[in-house]
Amino acid sequence: MRAVVTAGPTLEPIDPVRFLSNRSSGQQGYALAAALAAEGFDVTLVSGPTALADLAGVTMVRVETALEMLAAVEAALPAEVFVAVAAVADWRPAEVSDVKLKLDKAAMASLELVENPDILKTISGRAAETRPDLVVGFAAETHDVVEHARAKRLRKGCDWIVANDVSGDAMGGAENAALVIKPDAEVELPRAAKPEIARQLAAEIAAYFAH
Ligand code: CTP
Repeated sequence: MRAVVTAGPTLEPIDPVRFLSNRSSGQQGYALAAALAAEGFDVTLVSGPTALADLAGVTMVRVETALEMLAAVEAALPAEVFVAVAAVADWRPAEVSDVKLKLDKAAMASLELVENPDILKTISGRAAETRPDLVVGFAAETHDVVEHARAKRLRKGCDWIVANDVSGDAMGGAENAALVIKPDAEVELPRAAKPEIARQLAAEIAAYFAH
């Protein structure tokens, strides 16, 4: 069975030397890709820019922008499972300058942004014949974690959502705590190192296909 996982941040260029991005390290997504491979899945990891080494036994696709990430995910389908762990930049500069911009006050005040595609929502919304059987999203929340994550699952159209409390140092940190929200059940994954969280989530995913 095939699994496609996104991980890391995306990087949205402004000009040759500047970009918009975020603090995602990619650790949780890489750990999940490795754990799914250990469960026997044929895994493609579509990764934004990270400092992490390529994973052995996983097909690596390195991208920079959200548009590239969506195209790489679509190229990697069909798959039985899609897990969106990446912290995709929601916005990108409307134009990318070929030359280094003089970012004075006027230029910054008029820096125009356009919305990036929502990769999770796009894949969740595919026609049944080409939609992965199980689509899993992540929800990084700092407050009212469960309520926000339940609403996000419905808004995105994914099957499960993994709610993360990022009020501590989960983003970029070595540990995570999560709640897997399914249509009919919620499974708590207590605070642990990211590879352990990944192992438990991969086991949940494997169990879903074992029934
Ligand atoms: N996601 C995605 N493509 C985007 C934005 C998000 O695939 N353009 C996915 C992420 O990989 C993650 C989930 O959607 O699985 C997170 O949803 P998002 O709406 O980005 O959540 P937050 O960043 O927490 O945003 P907010 O709560 O402000 O809506």
